[in-house]
Amino acid sequence: MLRPTLIGALVTLVAIHPLTQAAECSRDGLLTAASTYLSAQTSGKITDLKLASNFTYQQNNKVSDIAKGLLSTAYKIDLNRSTADIVACASYTMWISSSGTKPYVVGTQIRHRDNNTLEIAMIDTIAATTGDLFFNAKDTQKYIAAEDWTSLPAASRPSRDLLRKAGDAYLDMWTDATAADKIPWGTDCERVEGSRLTKPCGGQLPHGGSAKPNGMRRYVIDQEMGSVDVLCQFDSLGNLPDSHEIRVVDGKVKYVHTITVNGK
Ligand SMILES: *[C@@H]1O[C@H](CO)[C@@H](O)[C@H](O)[C@H]1NC(C)=O
Ligand SMILES: *[C@@H]1O[C@H](CO)[C@@H](O)[C@H](O)[C@H]1NC(C)=O
Ligand SMILES: *[C@@H]1O[C@H](CO)[C@@H](O)[C@H](O)[C@H]1NC(C)=O
Repeated sequence: MLRPTLIGALVTLVAIHPLTQAAECSRDGLLTAASTYLSAQTSGKITDLKLASNFTYQQNNKVSDIAKGLLSTAYKIDLNRSTADIVACASYTMWISSSGTKPYVVGTQIRHRDNNTLEIAMIDTIAATTGDLFFNAKDTQKYIAAEDWTSLPAASRPSRDLLRKAGDAYLDMWTDATAADKIPWGTDCERVEGSRLTKPCGGQLPHGGSAKPNGMRRYVIDQEMGSVDVLCQFDSLGNLPDSHEIRVVDGKVKYVHTITVNGK
């Protein structure tokens, strides 16, 4: 009598457990995984990460061996901030190491398969250092640390569509003469390109001029933060690994950050 019941219960458990785990991609799960990534970077030990069986590591737009990448060296992290995309089940983390001999400003998208935030399917990193476009980690840190990134109230969160279009329009400015005017610039908007601050950021914008659209676009869209991060290959200016992050507050662009790799 007991046996069939027990077996029945076990079968039910085994069947339901993976489903309940994989059902939803949670913000907490994404941010916890992003935090393990930061700890691993701080220790320089990739063994601290729970990588999926079919894991992909990409650094500066090239698939490569994680053991030979940035994560295998310990860096002191002086500033970090993460956003979460529960639909794509991906996160974006920006970190800055400004105090060591080899400074870095890094933008990393982490992707999970089947909504399983316990395992990392992909780490996709754009890493800028000395010699890269407008690079000065201390200045970048100073500007970004002063920004306000509190969550937006539920009623005033931009749609995913608006955020994606803002990211795309920004990257289209070099090839589409009308793109800059489609972006809802805030009057107090700040743009930090590498370490170069432009305020307000709706000034001095490109209006076409290049025939090559910026390609390889990968998105992390966070409605709670009102942000989109797009990793791409900046083909308009010549195959450069790049991250563009935009924050929209009250329907207007508030912050723009760029990390562009053009060094050796
Ligand atoms: C993953 O989670 C999202 C958001 O919770 C949900 O819309 C989607 O259907 C889920 N996908 C899978 C494959 O479970
Ligand atoms: C492994 O990942 C790669 C890149 O994301 C994908 O193209 C491939 O189909 C995956 N293979 C399996 C067995 O999941
Ligand atoms: C990341 O930043 C948060 C504060 O925003 C801090 O509590 C945490 O310790 C930082 N993580 C690392 C690895 O530096």
